[in-house]
Amino acid sequence: MIKIKNLSYTYGDGKQALKGINISFPVEHIFAIMGFSGSGKTTLLNCMSRFLKPQEGTIYWEDSDIFEMDEKTFRATFGVVFQSLNLFPHMTVLENMTLAPARLQGLSARKAKAAAIEMLERLGILELANHYPAQVSGGQAQRVAIARGLMLKPRLMLLDEPTSALDVRTTEDFSQWIRELKSDTNFIIVTHDLGFAKTAATRGIFMSEGEIIDSGNINDVLSHIKGR
Ligand SMILES: Nc1ncnc2c1ncn2[C@@H]1O[C@H](COP(=O)(O)OP(=O)(O)OP(=O)(O)O)[C@@H](O)[C@H]1O
Ligand SMILES: [Mg+2]
Repeated sequence: MIKIKNLSYTYGDGKQALKGINISFPVEHIFAIMGFSGSGKTTLLNCMSRFLKPQEGTIYWEDSDIFEMDEKTFRATFGVVFQSLNLFPHMTVLENMTLAPARLQGLSARKAKAAAIEMLERLGILELANHYPAQVSGGQAQRVAIARGLMLKPRLMLLDEPTSALDVRTTEDFSQWIRELKSDTNFIIVTHDLGFAKTAATRGIFMSEGEIIDSGNINDVLSHIKGR
């Protein structure tokens, strides 16, 4: 379980993006983090993935402060896919996917390749294995970035707007796929797509101006949003 206690983050220009966040993410739930543009969703995800160091508050994974975990343990526990994906442009899809398992987990090239092929097959994008990122569509690149993140088998995967480049059918497949993967990896997903949130998540969080103003069962949170 992730537990966030009294978390505040202020950017260098004085903008306070998170104001004393308190929330727990039990692993048996898939969470959708929703909220208006600028409400602090990405900032929260960036603190949870250690890209931003909060000035106040603590984030715990089980009983450890995540900022005190060693890099290897942290990377094996938390995966993250940003809005901007960050695929390496000079590497094929397969090379993008096998880099971290080889470097961080010491997997042999052969084993890493076999694992990558299995993951691409599971996601229905095996035909992209030898393409470079510039040769795939936006929606395909999104799936490649997520597949790459899953190669390290993290306990928890943080996704920022994973469906922004997906069409309706691919979004539905993606919800299904997240539910199937849930026994190995739990997901916390920032999304504007309420339909996707409803089918993929079991719990919802709604943020406004750096605070969590609603959280609970996904259907309850969605009906509050629609009533706003
Ligand atoms: N690098 C930065 N420097 C200064 N202010 C920032 C920076 N990044 C974000 N902010 C500000 O912090 C607040 C929260 O931004 P954040 O990106 O977390 O919002 P968000 O909920 O993810 O929005 P969106 O839905 O548009 O992605 C906003 O007011 C934003 O302008
Ligand atoms: Mg954002």
